[in-house]
Amino acid sequence: MTSSAFPQSIIARKRDGHALAPEEIAAFVRGVAQGGWTDYQATALLMAIFLRGMTPEETVCLTGQMMSSGVVADLTGIPGVKVDKHSTGGVGDKVSLVLAPLVAACGVPVPMMSGRGLGHTGGTLDKLESIPGFRVGLSLTEYVAQIRRIGVAMIGQTAELAPADRKLYALRDVTATVESIPLICASIMSKKLAEGVDALVLDVKFGRGAFMQSRTRAHELAVALVAIGRAMGRPTRALLTSMEQPLGRTVGNAVEVVEAIEALQGRGPADLMAVTYALGVHMLLLARVASDPADARRRLETTMASGAALARFRELVAAQGGDPAVVDDYSRLPRAGYLRDVPAPHSGYVTDVDPMAIAQVALRLGAGRSHAAASVDHAVGLTGLKKVGEAVQAGDPLCTVHARDNALLDAALPPTAAAFKIDSRPVQPSPLIDELVE
Ligand code: URA
Repeated sequence: MTSSAFPQSIIARKRDGHALAPEEIAAFVRGVAQGGWTDYQATALLMAIFLRGMTPEETVCLTGQMMSSGVVADLTGIPGVKVDKHSTGGVGDKVSLVLAPLVAACGVPVPMMSGRGLGHTGGTLDKLESIPGFRVGLSLTEYVAQIRRIGVAMIGQTAELAPADRKLYALRDVTATVESIPLICASIMSKKLAEGVDALVLDVKFGRGAFMQSRTRAHELAVALVAIGRAMGRPTRALLTSMEQPLGRTVGNAVEVVEAIEALQGRGPADLMAVTYALGVHMLLLARVASDPADARRRLETTMASGAALARFRELVAAQGGDPAVVDDYSRLPRAGYLRDVPAPHSGYVTDVDPMAIAQVALRLGAGRSHAAASVDHAVGLTGLKKVGEAVQAGDPLCTVHARDNALLDAALPPTAAAFKIDSRPVQPSPLIDELVE
């Protein structure tokens, strides 16, 4: 090993504000994945990157190295442009459950690798696992075979895909180095590229319920992610979407699956459908199955109305070992034993539903996890959430809380009520779809 390849030399160069050479980045990722770097050396470099940043070239190099730290799924034998969607995470964000089967039913293969809920944001895998029997842990061979057979698979990060990210993310989580744009970009994009996608649509959320609360920072992240996609030869587009109130009318796991099934039956709430269609349009365009945005939108709506998207969801559930009868019988999903409505204290218009406050309630009910190893209660959450702009009469339910016991229910009621603001004059919700970055 030359002295410049020693971990301490690489850490010192980044500490002093230099751009790292490709071989230094390669040595770091190799050292993390294979154990040549200690955790304290890796976290020292992560903190130096957090404080000093990375050039676009360094970020692209880090992404490529992290992607190559494990197996890269080969989907080239499957016809069509394979397109995935990734969301940076929000509250009540069940878009993937609707979008993946819908886009697959439009003829676009969708290889989707999702995450679990952490902190205030929910995770697609936890929602799917509320369906009895549903397996998110497919092997890579099963994953490829399923995409070939039914055009869609929804899985968790396997041990073979981007193992360096798994290790680095765990270190970042406990060393206050998560919120770094180059590190977030390399983490997200290395996994997406390893899953074998040809193109990618990103939902970059901003606002109080988002991971990136500031719109400026979310825009910066979107631009950086799109640039990496382009540099790696995978056309990528990002939509900036607002997370100033929960998406849809449910927050939890099984309760969000029910809302997603209703959306697939054509009865989804307007905001959930707006985000789903906006992202779907770009997936169809990137897959080159639609000629323009109006054509893409028409195809999505026709497919939804025909029942083909719901049928594909049913097929997906059955293919991954889940109980497809949940689609027609919600009582087969886990249900909480203790339910109570939260009444509006006076008549007026809902002017705010604080997404972070609602997320904290859901977390305390057990719907989310406070640390990565925590388990999730699939049954609990909130339903029937009133939306900003809606009129309410005194005593009308603002939402219903679903809890595992009376103590948790009682504790949830005051913070849930405090999350809503009701005024005598209506307000317009902030625009949901903000900007396309391509
Ligand atoms: N999601 C990821 O997968 N990685 C990050 O670094 C942040 C969010």
